[in-house]
Amino acid sequence: MGGPGSTGSTGATGATGRAGANTAPVPTLEELALLASEAEAAIASSATRASWEALRVSWAGAKSGRLKELQALIPKAADKRAFGQAFNLLKARVEDALAARDTELSRVEAAARVEAERVDVTLPGRRPLVGSLHPVTLVSREIEAVFRSLGYSIAEGPELEDDRYNFALLNFPEDHPARDAQDTLFVEDGRLLRTHTSPVQIRTMLARQPPIRVICPGRVYRNDNDLRHSPMFHQVEGLCVAEGITLGDLKGTLEAFIARLFTRQTKARFRPSYFPFTEPSAEVDITCQICLGNGCPTCSHTGWMEILGSGMVDPRVLDNCGIDPDRYSGFAFGLGLDRVAMNKYGIPNIRSLFESDERLLRQVRG
Ligand code: DAH
Repeated sequence: MGGPGSTGSTGATGATGRAGANTAPVPTLEELALLASEAEAAIASSATRASWEALRVSWAGAKSGRLKELQALIPKAADKRAFGQAFNLLKARVEDALAARDTELSRVEAAARVEAERVDVTLPGRRPLVGSLHPVTLVSREIEAVFRSLGYSIAEGPELEDDRYNFALLNFPEDHPARDAQDTLFVEDGRLLRTHTSPVQIRTMLARQPPIRVICPGRVYRNDNDLRHSPMFHQVEGLCVAEGITLGDLKGTLEAFIARLFTRQTKARFRPSYFPFTEPSAEVDITCQICLGNGCPTCSHTGWMEILGSGMVDPRVLDNCGIDPDRYSGFAFGLGLDRVAMNKYGIPNIRSLFESDERLLRQVRG
């Protein structure tokens, strides 16, 4: 068999001559060898997967690759056998070059992946975020603990209430402003979202006879929204009914409670007030814990923060609930949990309690 130079050139030229204007000219054997070298060089220097892929398609593409085109020229070659052999050699060289470069690129890609995914074991660890109880839950538990130690038990009632329990049996007259839609959120069937936890004292007294000592924590709702008011907030109701309970018991209990929950330095003041279900009634303010009494926007510059309402249970309320007012007396109080949480943890805006901002919860971890 002669070398490509001697056998191929004339035959190839002859084939070109017969090929006609539309078809590609049949290359010479030297040209095929040259093409193989060029392809090898280009493939070997393809720097990226994309350029390698472009070369693969242009050379070895199943439909219109260069190799397919050249193969189609074999029948047209003057010396088909010699052209066929030269073509096979070219095909093998191109395919080998593609495979070799593929292996090399895969190696580089794998190394890059390993580098990108490398774990620096010397970095400090990331601590998982630990959940914490909400300030209102913390305060509620603390208040429960104080009253439990004073012999109180815990009672609960529904948030969706009847007018009777929320108002009527608590001695609210028919036309009392608290019954107005301004303040109370009514539900279509005539029921309402309880505006305070006081209906739980009614439910408790209807269910059992004195001695009674309960506290009733829970959510309450009012049509109100500003720095100190949110439409949903939390209260704890307290009720103590027995023989011989006096205003002195009420004061002593609340003063002991405030000293336990805040500090001994926290002052409490009793302001005469009015509630339909207590007589006499008092509101209790404590030294504003945000400004320690100096005055700030949260306490409207008074230095005091109202935290609860209280009083001696009105005999009519005892009577409404089937408890003999001539034999028994009692006191009751209702405390805003959110206010207490704001004071205890120095939170100036009640709304931050309900915005679920983790930063607040992290600061108030109990
Ligand atoms: N229920 C009252 C309110 O939400 C608070 C309150 C005041 C409750 C005096 C009481 C009480 O039990 O004796 O404004």
